[in-house]
Amino acid sequence: FVDPVRIYVVVHVVYHEALENISDEQILSQLEVLNNDFRRTNKDRDQVPNVWDDLAADTFINFELAPDGITRTATDLLQFSSDNTIKSSSKGGKDPWPTESYLNIWVCNLENSLLGYAQFPGGPPETDGVVIDYRAFGTLGTAEAPFNLGRTTTHEIGHYLNLSHIFGDGRSNSCDDSDYVDDTPNQLGPNYNKPTFPTVSCANAPHGDMFMNYMDYVDDDSMFMFTKGQAYRMKATLLGPRAPLLR
Ligand code: ARG
Ligand code: ZN
Ligand code: CA
Repeated sequence: FVDPVRIYVVVHVVYHEALENISDEQILSQLEVLNNDFRRTNKDRDQVPNVWDDLAADTFINFELAPDGITRTATDLLQFSSDNTIKSSSKGGKDPWPTESYLNIWVCNLENSLLGYAQFPGGPPETDGVVIDYRAFGTLGTAEAPFNLGRTTTHEIGHYLNLSHIFGDGRSNSCDDSDYVDDTPNQLGPNYNKPTFPTVSCANAPHGDMFMNYMDYVDDDSMFMFTKGQAYRMKATLLGPRAPLLR
């Protein structure tokens, strides 16, 4: 995009414990992170290695909380998994707002240290959107280190806009699979925690893996960029299968 575009967001808070009923302030802190990360105004953008400065992208995508775009639902369920139960009021979750017009984000207690999950474009409308654990959402309140900078939501929205993991999603540890983005180096598998530059794998010496990409698995404070190629792929999604979102 050369002109900024805007996606309306609705956040569904589904809670069993009062603690899980996160504050409006915490939700707004997440929106701020999204707008910084996707517009490349994130404070840590200068940590991108110089060799990749030219690749770091402003995606021109902005996120705006829809009018009355916070819903709050008490549930009998203690936890949720990645099975989409959270997306159905009759099952103890909360039905989405029309998924062609709104990015639906559910925030809840996810089991087994699952930080979040997303639906790629082209899936069933009734389960479209992203789900984030209440401990990995926003930057304050119940957000817990090392996932307390809101990057789980940045990562999941990357998937929602058709980005694969930077290490490829074909096989778990392979130099042969791809993220279908040309300007991200091929890398063997996920990186975790706080890697140091350079971290070399496959044939990507001397600069190595672009582990500081939002689509790797590193800690929130170790990821700070999308590439131009990734921005282009998200743009193609917003001009294609997700075009109704921009109306
Ligand atoms: N494992 C999750 C996924 O594959 C999210 C990882 C998010 N990483 C982070 N540093 N917040 O979708
Ligand atoms: Zn992922
Ligand atoms: Ca690549």
